[in-house]
Amino acid sequence: MIDDLPAGLEARYLTEDDHPRVLAVLDSWWGGLKGEAGSAERALLLPRLYFQHFASTGFLVERDGGEVAAFLVGFLSQTEPRAAYVHFAGVDPALHGQGVGRTLYEAFFALVRSHGRRYVHCITSPENTASQAFHTRLGFTASAVKPDYDGPGLDRVAFTIDLSSDPVATPRPV
Ligand SMILES: CC(C)(COP(=O)(O)OP(=O)(O)OC[C@H]1O[C@@H](n2cnc3c(N)ncnc32)[C@H](O)[C@@H]1OP(=O)(O)O)[C@@H](O)C(=O)NCCC(=O)NCCS
Repeated sequence: MIDDLPAGLEARYLTEDDHPRVLAVLDSWWGGLKGEAGSAERALLLPRLYFQHFASTGFLVERDGGEVAAFLVGFLSQTEPRAAYVHFAGVDPALHGQGVGRTLYEAFFALVRSHGRRYVHCITSPENTASQAFHTRLGFTASAVKPDYDGPGLDRVAFTIDLSSDPVATPRPV
């Protein structure tokens, strides 16, 4: 369903059975960011409902052997008819820098465009500088740090991309 992944990787839509498998990789893939508090925060950010009710707007990437290699959890905004949202995405650190993250986001952009969505939003924590660099590279615009955005002490950086002016909407020069 996604053609341009590195060899040996296959993508499909999420299923409910993926929930524990994705939870199991979060700490190692996020490198233990923000310690125990970060670990609890990440687990709570990804309850089962995303794999039940948003399964058709998210992707799981597996290796030939079935091991989880990457995922993207996203959805179409209920309140903004022209927007979609990437809630959580991760790539196995062994695969970083090979375009897997970009490919998943581009697949999500194509999917939400087909639903008439023009904007994609997401957030990340100010400590996650890799995520900020990644989203900026993909063409997202970053906000200033928003203090207490998700509750006391939970600062966030918000990102938005306008797909109508997104360079991935047209073929990239080779
Ligand atoms: C952020 C993350 C998803 C990027 O995945 P990835 O597959 O390594 O990224 P890609 O190889 O597709 O990179 C896409 C672009 O972003 C850039 N990029 C990716 N990570 C970067 C980093 N740490 N620093 C600077 N640039 C980076 C790449 O250079 C690339 O640019 P290009 O396509 O113009 O050459 C991955 O590092 C990850 O899973 N991190 C831990 C989880 C996380 O923070 N998720 C995001 C928040 S929910």
